[in-house]
Amino acid sequence: MIEASNPAAADVDLHERRKADAAAAQPDSDIHERRKADAAAQPDSDIHERRKADAAAAQPDSDIHERRKADAAAAQPDSDIHERRKADHIRINLEEDVAFKALTTGLEAYFFMHRALPELDLAAVDTGVEVLGKRQRTPLLISSMTGGTARAQAINRELAAGAQAAGMAMGLGSMRAAIEDPSLAATYQVRDVAPDILLFANLGAVQLNYRYGIDQCHRAVDMIQADALILHFNALQEAVQPEGDGNFAGLLAKVEAICRALPVPVVAKEVGWGFAAEDARRLAEAGVAAIDVAGAGGTSWSQVEMHRAPTARHARVAGAFLDWGIPTAVSLRYCRQAAPDLPLFASGGIKDGIDVAKCVALGASLVGLAGEFLRAADGDGAAGVVELAETLVEELRVAMFCAGAGDIAALWQTPLHTHF
Ligand SMILES: Cc1cc2nc3c(=O)[nH]c(=O)nc-3n(C[C@H](O)[C@H](O)[C@H](O)COP(=O)(O)O)c2cc1C
Repeated sequence: MIEASNPAAADVDLHERRKADAAAAQPDSDIHERRKADAAAQPDSDIHERRKADAAAAQPDSDIHERRKADAAAAQPDSDIHERRKADHIRINLEEDVAFKALTTGLEAYFFMHRALPELDLAAVDTGVEVLGKRQRTPLLISSMTGGTARAQAINRELAAGAQAAGMAMGLGSMRAAIEDPSLAATYQVRDVAPDILLFANLGAVQLNYRYGIDQCHRAVDMIQADALILHFNALQEAVQPEGDGNFAGLLAKVEAICRALPVPVVAKEVGWGFAAEDARRLAEAGVAAIDVAGAGGTSWSQVEMHRAPTARHARVAGAFLDWGIPTAVSLRYCRQAAPDLPLFASGGIKDGIDVAKCVALGASLVGLAGEFLRAADGDGAAGVVELAETLVEELRVAMFCAGAGDIAALWQTPLHTHF
């Protein structure tokens, strides 16, 4: 048993009831058209500004917070909230500065010993790797980002087509929106354009404390024909989100139950603050098939939430965490020591193929980029994604050549140095 009550049944009931209520009131097409018209009528920034001004004029922060949660719950179905949040996330990541300020990945502290005599043929350097039973041409991963809106669907298809062409793995963004509203499934489905890639479904681990269980995990995997499920751990993000789910108590046992029951591998992933050694060890013991460290030094999610904060206080609290977290290189070392045999993925602030090479030398099998691929897809579609991937692979190949590593297995064994 994963939970005392039957979460799947509760969910279906809720979902069916909500659907029935909505259907009684008006046809689906009307709802859809009205939602579109509403959205078209006013730009995002106007809505945001007006909401902020109304709230500030009327009452203290704590009241606003409680009322907004109640109003929101009464007025819009969950799926709308998730859609809105995903739209905000794409817009903010593309338009605002959401990078860490002082904290870096820590990768800059390392270098490879340059080999004047690598005894390798550059043309024969092999960047291929096998991960979770699937062979791919590069150790690159497009990290989990999006889904749930029309814009997200377009971005996902460009990312996936690029991943297929360049031989990369890809994660979809949190699939909660489509679990709540199955009509959004298509915004995540990319198998038709990426039949061969290692593809990851994605759900927030904390949802296992909010009525989600094995049924929802199954549905996420099946919905997109995924090879594995990523459970993301985003404690800080939930904590600074006004609508966040903050109950992370007792999660480990539930993660363990999912690892046991799900027929595909489960990957534990942070979202930009890294895993400590102790957490990596417990997750490895719980049965995760891999850990994606998603460390600090790239996209700061407290900063993203700062830009969507509805009140000055929320913005200030989120802003205070700009340089919180474990740098990517440090978390990689912690995870490698805590779980010596577990496959590791590295992400968080990876900027070029030399960073990719360093992450592999620190133990990673896959190296992921999120924000960089989002900007590439937004700017130039699948061609932009392929251009970025091929550039990264070229840099990786040269780094491997000059470090004397002819393939990924050799790179895992290649030492990194911190001083001459
Ligand atoms: C627009 C956007 C949306 C994201 N959504 C998710 C998500 O739904 N699930 C998740 O596990 N991580 C999500 N992430 C986090 C990334 O997968 C990644 O861990 C983080 O951004 C650090 O990588 P980066 O520095 O290369 O951007 C998102 C990142 C971006 C940029």
